[in-house]
Amino acid sequence: MWSTFKVTVRPAVHLLCGLPLLYWCWMVWRTINGERTLLSTDPGQMLADQTGYWAFNLLIISLLFTPLSKWFRLRWVGYRRAVGLWAFAYAVIHVLVFYWLILGANLSSFGRELVQRPYIVLGASALFLLLLLAVTSNQFSMRRLKKRWKDLHQWVYLAAMLVAIHALWQIKGDWGWPMVQAITVMLLLGVRLWWVLQRRLSAAK
Ligand code: HEM
Repeated sequence: MWSTFKVTVRPAVHLLCGLPLLYWCWMVWRTINGERTLLSTDPGQMLADQTGYWAFNLLIISLLFTPLSKWFRLRWVGYRRAVGLWAFAYAVIHVLVFYWLILGANLSSFGRELVQRPYIVLGASALFLLLLLAVTSNQFSMRRLKKRWKDLHQWVYLAAMLVAIHALWQIKGDWGWPMVQAITVMLLLGVRLWWVLQRRLSAAK
C-alpha cells in the first residue's frame, strides 16, 4: 500500500515543483508569439524576481519536511531531496536570468555587481553552499561521508539565512512575504538548535 502511494506521490511532487517553470516557459513562448504584455515591460526583472521567489519557497519547504515528519509521524522525508534539488535548479535559473537578461551576459558586469552589491555576494555564497549540498545529496556521498554527511547538510540552514538576508536587502516594495520567509527560516533554525541541545543534555545525563 505504502509503496503504491510512493510511486504516485513522487511524480506528483516533481510535477508540483516544476509548475512554475512550465508557467514561465508558457509565458516566454506566448511573448515570442506576439503577446508582448505578458512578461511586463521588464521581463528580466520579472523573471529574476519570480525565479528567486520560487527557489527560496522550495528551499523553505524542503526544510519543513523534517520537523513536520517528526511531529505528525509522516514518512515524507524521502521527498525532501527532490524538493531541495528543485530549489537548487530554480536558484541556478535565477542566476542565469540575472546574468543573461539583466547583465546582458557580460562577465565583467557580473564581477562589478559582486564588488558593489553585498547582497549579490550573499546570494552567490548561498548558491555555492546549495551546489555543495546538491552534488552530495546522493546515496554514494552518504555512504562515503558517513557522519560528516549529516554535518555537511546542516549547512542548508546557513544557506537559507544568507538567502533571507539577500532577499530582504534589496526589497523595493512589499516586505510582507520576504519577512514571512525570513521568520520561517529563523523558527526552523531555532527548532533544529533546540533538538541539538536536547540531544546533548540527554547524552550528558
Ligand atoms: C550568484 C547568485 C545570485 C545572484 C547574482 C542573485 C541576484 C539577484 C538579484 C539581482 C535580485 C533582485 C532582482 C530585482 O532587482 O528585483 C535577486 C532577488 C532575489 N533572489 Fe537572488 N541571486 C543569487 C542567488 C540567489 C539564491 C541562491 C536564491 C535562493 C535560493 C535567491 C533568491 C532570491 C530571492 C528570494 C529574491 C527576491 C525576489 C523577490 O523580489 O521576491 N537568490 N537575486
